Amino acid sequence: MTVDSVSGAQGVNSREETPNLQEIHDFLIDLAFKAGETITSALPLINGVGSKKNSSDLVTEYDRAVEQMVSTALREKYPQYKFHGEETYNPAHPLTDDPTFIVDPIDGTVNFVHGFPNACISLGFAVSRTPVVGVVFNPFTQMLYSAMRGKGAYLNRTTKLPLKGANIEPLRGLGNALIGVEWGSDRSGKNWETKIRTFERLGKAREDGGAMVHSMRSMGSAALNLCAVASGTLDLYWEGGCWAWDVCAGWVILTEAGGIIVDGNPGNWDAKVDGRKYLAVRASPDGEGQKEIIEELWSHIQGKFEY
Ligand code: IPD
Repeated sequence: MTVDSVSGAQGVNSREETPNLQEIHDFLIDLAFKAGETITSALPLINGVGSKKNSSDLVTEYDRAVEQMVSTALREKYPQYKFHGEETYNPAHPLTDDPTFIVDPIDGTVNFVHGFPNACISLGFAVSRTPVVGVVFNPFTQMLYSAMRGKGAYLNRTTKLPLKGANIEPLRGLGNALIGVEWGSDRSGKNWETKIRTFERLGKAREDGGAMVHSMRSMGSAALNLCAVASGTLDLYWEGGCWAWDVCAGWVILTEAGGIIVDGNPGNWDAKVDGRKYLAVRASPDGEGQKEIIEELWSHIQGKFEY
């Protein structure tokens, strides 16, 4: 099945069943609200916090419970589609071209554990590894972002993104940009060095060779960062180390809001949803300055991500 055969598709004749994106979108929104109740019921006391790869890579019993609830519901309603979730991921079964739900039950788990209200459920659906439906819900702020390929992106179902619509300002280079970045959980080696040295270059004064960006924000959720770029409240988001479930849903929301997403390493304009390194850029009137700001950011990257 190709992506084009599903865009906005309902009832297209094909030997394979064509995913009904509107139905999937609406079902994912219902699931996001249900998941939100479980997530908010955890506070103020979160039980069962454990770690995975290291002490900053956290998981809670709520991550597992939400993934269980979501995967059961999706498998029941859509047994024909695959499921790819953070807490049940098995490296022996990487993402394929098959229509697949790509789910992070709680994106921003570190925030969740600390009670910092920037966490969400991220529910995506991809065909041929191209994200085509995305739903991201922060139950603490009750902000729901959603999008379907070819149909635009919305906040709380009615406000079209980006928030300023046609009045969004053109991009005017890194010197005027607010950028999302993340520390992530890899704290040693080349990937860590690449991040830290690049942060320094982005922040540093121009006369010392830096980009002197307006500032950088590290808010702890890749999915919500992508939604902030889609909204136009962040100009860019650069990251290496996150996974398809962190970005799939936000990817659709961003691109449907006129933004673009490329590889987090310089030179590759064709980012992969499971490529683990990303650079997202907000909408700009007629795309003005998008290509230039991507090349400018790439020019400041120190080293290379090895994901
Ligand atoms: C993490 C968050 C974080 C990003 C990490 C992700 P999790 O997801 O999205 O912002 O920097 O790379 O793993 O663990 O909270 O689902």
